[in-house]
Amino acid sequence: MTNPVIRPRRLRTTPALRRLASETRVHPSELVLPMFVREGSESVAISSMPGVVQHSIDSARRAVVEAAEAGIGGVMLFGVPDVRDAIGSGATDPNGILNLATRALVDEVGGALTVQTDLCLDEFTDHGHCGVLAADGRIDNDATLIRYQDMALAQARAGSDLLGLSGMMDGQVAAVRSALDAEGLQDTAVLSYSAKYASAFYGPFREAVASTLVGNRRTYQLDPANGREGVRESRLDIAEGADIVMVKPAGSYLDVLAAVASMSEVPVWAYQVSGEYAMIEAAAAQGWIDRRRAVEESVLGIRRAGADAVLTYWAVELATWLKEDRA
Ligand code: PBG
Repeated sequence: MTNPVIRPRRLRTTPALRRLASETRVHPSELVLPMFVREGSESVAISSMPGVVQHSIDSARRAVVEAAEAGIGGVMLFGVPDVRDAIGSGATDPNGILNLATRALVDEVGGALTVQTDLCLDEFTDHGHCGVLAADGRIDNDATLIRYQDMALAQARAGSDLLGLSGMMDGQVAAVRSALDAEGLQDTAVLSYSAKYASAFYGPFREAVASTLVGNRRTYQLDPANGREGVRESRLDIAEGADIVMVKPAGSYLDVLAAVASMSEVPVWAYQVSGEYAMIEAAAAQGWIDRRRAVEESVLGIRRAGADAVLTYWAVELATWLKEDRA
């Protein structure tokens, strides 16, 4: 005869009780949509990311209005330039695709959501690395910082609300912060991808930005084996003045996310990356997984682990579902 005194199932009895006992919620304002903007008038599908496109500026304008209507917190823009060179000149050109798109979208949505920009050279360099190269072919950290400073000024002047520093160079936050402040751009905020891992899950993104990378990023992005180092990188970025820190990818790094969230005094975000998106889309397309439930659960898990906001390619669709659920 067993008669348990403690019955945790009691709080799971009805939908109303389960709703009341729910510890974690996802709200549209905590979602950020990454968007790719290319040159030219046509948008182009990305085969490894069904449902995601490289926008033209015009289609990006329409998408950002839809995003604002869905109530999400912001969009993170990536540029896909036609022409690339050794130093990524397009990144600092006020008429480069990313800066043009930023101006257009800020103009389109005003303050209805934040317009954020990826601050990294890889989409703009012909060699595809996140920094500039020294004569021996290695990444020149400190020469790259100067490029990031110029890029920050160009993006801030284009109207970006939040600069997403994704290059993993040492000292990048302090370098960008001081350049902004020296030019009177104190109000432009800095999001540092502080714990960014050298991950296989960026695979589809490489198609999304037509990456030219040969080789890998293991001399600057973190070793997937290292959790403590992700916390250290985040601590350094906070000390350098990051307004927000981020862990990326999300799903395979929830332990790092939880550790950073437990020590950080600034908001902690997470990036559910292209490969995480592609895996669920692919399994759902096969009928092997319930797409909506898998998407919701994946983002909920990232929130539960400690993310204050989540960059996800499902941001708009998920926000729409969340509204439906509340109605
Ligand atoms: C680099 C950058 C990458 C992603 C965002 N910024 C690619 C990389 O580091 O190789 C990946 C995002 C994704 O996979 O969704 N600027």
